[in-house]
Amino acid sequence: MWIDCEGGAIPAVALAPMSVVPEYQRRGIGGQLIRAGLGRLRDLREPIVLVLGHEHYYPRFGFSAEKAENLASPFAPEAFMALELERGAIDDVVGRVRYARAFGL
Ligand SMILES: CC(C)(COP(=O)(O)OP(=O)(O)OC[C@H]1O[C@@H](n2cnc3c(N)ncnc32)[C@H](O)[C@@H]1OP(=O)(O)O)[C@@H](O)C(=O)NCCC(=O)NCCS
Repeated sequence: MWIDCEGGAIPAVALAPMSVVPEYQRRGIGGQLIRAGLGRLRDLREPIVLVLGHEHYYPRFGFSAEKAENLASPFAPEAFMALELERGAIDDVVGRVRYARAFGL
């Protein structure tokens, strides 16, 4: 995905969709998937990850709604969160998020 800013588009990654079969939830599978995914994104040197999700779940992986507050999105602000994989990557970024067409947004 992209963050469209005045000076151009900044690349980011959307963590979605995310789901664990109900009878397997709360066994740590979701957490392992997220940590493995973030590890791969670090290896790929992706600077910014954005997620729409539960405000009490994603902060434990470092996501923060505050970090995303300068990003315009169609979502409730408390459920839209950002994580920097590169220190300072999202500082001073002000813009509107643009998802891949498959998201239908
Ligand atoms: C969110 C989800 C992926 C987590 O997967 P999981 O394998 O159950 O996650 P883990 O076992 O690693 O972590 C369980 C923790 O998630 C928390 N959690 C699960 N669903 C939650 C929810 N809807 N709101 C807040 N916290 C939630 C649990 O409270 C639990 O916390 P605890 O460890 O403090 O008890 C899974 O619950 C799911 O598929 N939910 C339905 C789909 C969904 O809502 N996806 C998110 C859209 S981005």
